[in-house]
Amino acid sequence: MSHPVIAKGNVAVITGGASGIGLAAAMAFARAGMKVCIADVDQTRLAEAATKLSSVTAATHVMTFVVDVSRAESVKELERAVGAHFGGTDILMNNAGIQPGSTLFGEPDNWQRIIAVNMWGIVNGSRIFAPSMIARRKAGLIINTGSKQGITTPPGDPAYNVSKAGVKAFTEALQHELRNTRDCHITAHLLIPGFVFTGLTAKGRTEKPAGAWTPEQTVDFMIARLEAGDFYILCPDNDVPRALDEKRMLWAAGDIVENRPPLSRWHPDYADAFAKFVKGE
Ligand SMILES: NC(=O)c1ccc[n+]([C@@H]2O[C@H](COP(=O)([O-])OP(=O)(O)OC[C@H]3O[C@@H](n4cnc5c(N)ncnc54)[C@H](O)[C@@H]3O)[C@@H](O)[C@H]2O)c1
Repeated sequence: MSHPVIAKGNVAVITGGASGIGLAAAMAFARAGMKVCIADVDQTRLAEAATKLSSVTAATHVMTFVVDVSRAESVKELERAVGAHFGGTDILMNNAGIQPGSTLFGEPDNWQRIIAVNMWGIVNGSRIFAPSMIARRKAGLIINTGSKQGITTPPGDPAYNVSKAGVKAFTEALQHELRNTRDCHITAHLLIPGFVFTGLTAKGRTEKPAGAWTPEQTVDFMIARLEAGDFYILCPDNDVPRALDEKRMLWAAGDIVENRPPLSRWHPDYADAFAKFVKGE
């Protein structure tokens, strides 16, 4: 690992760090000699994750914190606790997320909760941690976990799409703000995972589907792209190569430019045109 911030003695805070992509990131950062704080709403999972982390680093380099990222007060407590325990934050990974499912006109509670955790969680984390990270005058990273569903917005889970579209827009604005802030050495990054086999996507499966990546593959890719300086960390998986993602994103933007109906990729009248576009015809 050669990214200067992913370095021995530096501090990483990872929300949703008790499982999946967040825990894989915590393990990778800990292996690099960083001090890690995993913050999660699930106390039992946090304790199990801390045991795992202690197998690759000293227990004194591991901190756990129960947080609900949807609540600003809770995130403020996290920021204060990390400051008191480790002296500050070098990497903030706003990664906590849920996907309980949603429909347009059903489950108002799901709509509220999905947007509160997935979008407000990232807004809270970034707004609460960034000022003290900037004030340290050290290089640092804020990595926000978005989704391809926030870019191509496929039918099926509108509340999740809305939350992740918000994460994309917020993180783009954040990076613009950071790069225009005097003496700021913090950069923001949008992690866009592909299909990753985790608790979020397992849906009762115990075996990783062939098309999915592991959380560890995703984090290895993320670190390589951070080292390359990418803002958009667009991860492939075993089914979807980058070239196909690019076509899907260009087609989605083309709905506006070409004045097609929204989500025309899933409109029967445009099925042939989309297939040809993907083939490059
Ligand atoms: N797995 C995928 O295929 C995939 C694809 C695209 C994006 N993502 C995103 O990746 C992120 C990580 O998800 P994952 O796949 O590792 O799933 P995961 O379920 O393994 O991890 C999510 C973690 O977030 C925690 N969490 C949930 N609500 C919280 C809250 N209010 N406050 C703090 N922690 C909370 C959970 O307890 C869990 O440990 C999410 O933002 C998810 O939307 C995942």
